[in-house]
Amino acid sequence: MSHAVFPGSFDPIHNGHVDIIRRASKLFDQLTVAVLNNPYKQNKWFDSDERLELIETVIQGLPNVKAEVFEGLLVNYVRDKGAEIILKSLRNVSDFEYEVSMAHMNQHMYERAETTFLLTRPEWSYLSSTRVKEIVSYGVDVSDLVPAVSLQALKKKFS
Ligand code: PNS
Repeated sequence: MSHAVFPGSFDPIHNGHVDIIRRASKLFDQLTVAVLNNPYKQNKWFDSDERLELIETVIQGLPNVKAEVFEGLLVNYVRDKGAEIILKSLRNVSDFEYEVSMAHMNQHMYERAETTFLLTRPEWSYLSSTRVKEIVSYGVDVSDLVPAVSLQALKKKFS
């Protein structure tokens, strides 16, 4: 049975993430969306439980997808889950350069870890949670960039 782990910060989940999750749910028997709780990174708008809650709402209706919070090294989490596939999304060449070194380091630490990549659809290739938060803070409507739950949460957080 193939079990892929899709890790990230998801602060908050946006349409690019949702698209990857939907497509990956058809490619793997089981998909775990793993939300990093990094106590040293204090610049998050949402704490890990809030981010998890948003994802759980979005994945309703996808029976082979679940979401969890993890801490520490990704490879330890993946190994503990009995998984070997790490799923990442790529938007552009910069992502690729960053991800390749991370994939190699992860494989150095856990030899069985295979990082696989899905290309972001072109319509979401410029999208990131950081950009979304930035434009929200200038009052821009992001309803076409994030799922409804994230929109609601962003509005609440920003007001
Ligand atoms: O959404 P992001 O912030 O780009 O996700 C980055 C993430 C969570 C995948 C990455 O930072 C990560 O795996 N962090 C866990 C710590 C870890 O394993 N570090 C070693 C990477 S080689």
